[in-house]
Amino acid sequence: MSVAERVAELRAEIARHNRAYYVEDAPLIPDADYDAMVLELRALEAAHPELRSPTSVTETVGAPVTSTPFAPVVHAEPMLSLDNVFSVEDLVAWGERTARALEADPGAVRFAVEPKIDGLALSIVYLDGELARAATRGDGRVGEDVTANVRTIDNVPRRIADAPGRVEVRGEVFLAPEDFLAMNARQRERGEREFANPRNAAAGSLRQKDPSVTASRPLSFLAYQLAGEIEARFAAHMDTLTCLAEWGFLVAPETRRVEGVAAMVERSDWFEGHRHDLRYQIDGIVIKLDDLAERARLGSTSRAPRWAIARKLPPEERTTRLVAIEVSIGRTGRATPYAVLEPVAVAGSTVALATLHNEDQVALKDVRPGDLVIVRKAGDVIPEVVGHVAEPGRRRARAWHFPTHCPECGAPLVRREGESDTYCVNRNCPAQLLQQIVHFCSRAALDIEGFGEQRVGQLIEAGLVHDVADLFGLDPGTIASLEGFGELSAHQLVDAARAARETPLSRVLVGLGIRHVGPVAARLLAQRFGDVDALAAAPLESLESVEGVGPVIAGSVHLYFREPETLERLARLKAAGLTLREAAGEARVSATLAGRAVVVTGTIEGYSREAAEAAIRARGGTAPGSVSTKTYCVVVGDAPGAAKVRRAEELGVPRIDAGQFESLLETGSWTATLA
Ligand code: IVH
Repeated sequence: MSVAERVAELRAEIARHNRAYYVEDAPLIPDADYDAMVLELRALEAAHPELRSPTSVTETVGAPVTSTPFAPVVHAEPMLSLDNVFSVEDLVAWGERTARALEADPGAVRFAVEPKIDGLALSIVYLDGELARAATRGDGRVGEDVTANVRTIDNVPRRIADAPGRVEVRGEVFLAPEDFLAMNARQRERGEREFANPRNAAAGSLRQKDPSVTASRPLSFLAYQLAGEIEARFAAHMDTLTCLAEWGFLVAPETRRVEGVAAMVERSDWFEGHRHDLRYQIDGIVIKLDDLAERARLGSTSRAPRWAIARKLPPEERTTRLVAIEVSIGRTGRATPYAVLEPVAVAGSTVALATLHNEDQVALKDVRPGDLVIVRKAGDVIPEVVGHVAEPGRRRARAWHFPTHCPECGAPLVRREGESDTYCVNRNCPAQLLQQIVHFCSRAALDIEGFGEQRVGQLIEAGLVHDVADLFGLDPGTIASLEGFGELSAHQLVDAARAARETPLSRVLVGLGIRHVGPVAARLLAQRFGDVDALAAAPLESLESVEGVGPVIAGSVHLYFREPETLERLARLKAAGLTLREAAGEARVSATLAGRAVVVTGTIEGYSREAAEAAIRARGGTAPGSVSTKTYCVVVGDAPGAAKVRRAEELGVPRIDAGQFESLLETGSWTATLA
């Protein structure tokens, strides 16, 4: 292959990967492999100037925005990319080159050293202090208007004080690693696509047609630049960051101003050493000139500023032995192969299991039990097996084949043509049922304590539970006879389930695991329709007309309530005593008692004991059985326990009557205390 052919090939490949990464939010290869291709192309272009081209991917930013549901936004100033270095030597060389260009002493140039957040760039424009427009970077010149979605991000100020005229704030939208893992777990539970890494999850979440989907994702924004005229009011980058922090933006607290190339390298080493201790994921360190006048003197190329550089950090990789390949069955029946590994420390934690995604991935990586394998964390979070290490002279096991039958129930595993996933087709598969029930009882859903994987497994095995509705009719005597249960734990389990029968419809909807329906959409739907019958009967148009519910969610809900299995399940839940209703204003109540302990004694009209306690818990409070100094208040109903009332009096804990209970639930406080 000639050099010209190789250059053309690299350009085409890189453009293809740019599309996958920036437009489809679904990268095909690890970032490090992508970087290697870009480096090779750059080296070839440097050695063969005649092959350079202004349209080469080495001269452009991101990927052009093609078919998109978002309106185009032309950036007032282009949103540039950053040039990269991959070693300390190259970083030092950049620092010295920069000092030379400024005719300054390399020991005296001031740099700001910041984390390079692994998210996606966002520009937010404020007009007279009001958030007016937010846009993605796109190809650097034209981005996408994502204003409605950005308004749902909690830590983006809607308004900034003392900021007349036009102010543009640039920064990175990201997902904290633990939020990302929780979100992927939810995606998995709902039978939806999991994201490859936090960056893609953030991008996928921001670029949603339906802002309520974005709102349900725990996105954050970190500001790293003040753009436009306003920047001229400042002399140094660090001062702009201080101003951003005062306006209420999150700025990286680890950013430091340092003097001289040596101190700059030292601070960037600090980031390398602490990369796993930060609350966001970084893929490198950004070093910028601090002095804005110096920046102006150096200027930018069409692609990147000359006054900044990104030091990229390599992903951490380790080798370990692959013990076995197994298959797990999820709530929707999806069969996912995973590697059982000899435990190994990678990127801040011990890894013993790693997903292998699907059949094709196992074949592609050609990993076999017994192999020495390379393990890393995708986007530094999800453990994955990269491939095996050749061990000359060692005999490998035979290639692994996807099982033909479900390891849990023995039903056939089916992979439909054109799809990469394989499913267990048995609707009564105990493994699926187990995951469905665990999800139904989880915090975000009915929040029934005590129904973890192990116990639910026991109940299913004993033939006591065939469907979520069976949870509500359990007999404590029968459960107490199971291994590991006693009288007390059996009663606790049954009571917990009974108390959950009045769970608001919105949380039951989450528990049912309807595709695309997360807590936010569930609440909007439950509030609009009030009870499950109205929701189930709603025609598609009225589902679509709910503000904040887009056509995808509406379509999925409509379909769900047309399935005979759904109607049977609802009938069983009703027969089990679930109310399946949403009181008006149920959304507002959720946090009124956050972190507060409210003791109930005696009976309160309109509430069973369990319902009163469930109402407290539903609002974020706890309902302990005894009074202590930590008790927020005691609700005194009819025929109260004398000891509790006395104890409250002794400790000076406020007592309220049954009539004040409603106001307590609604507002977290009450108007007058008992005499
Ligand atoms: S400054 C003109 N600072 O990295 C300067 N970028 O590879 C432009 N990024 O598009 C960016 N953390 O999305 C800057 N502290 C930081 C950053 C940062 C992450 C991203 C940003 C940019 C990309 C370039």
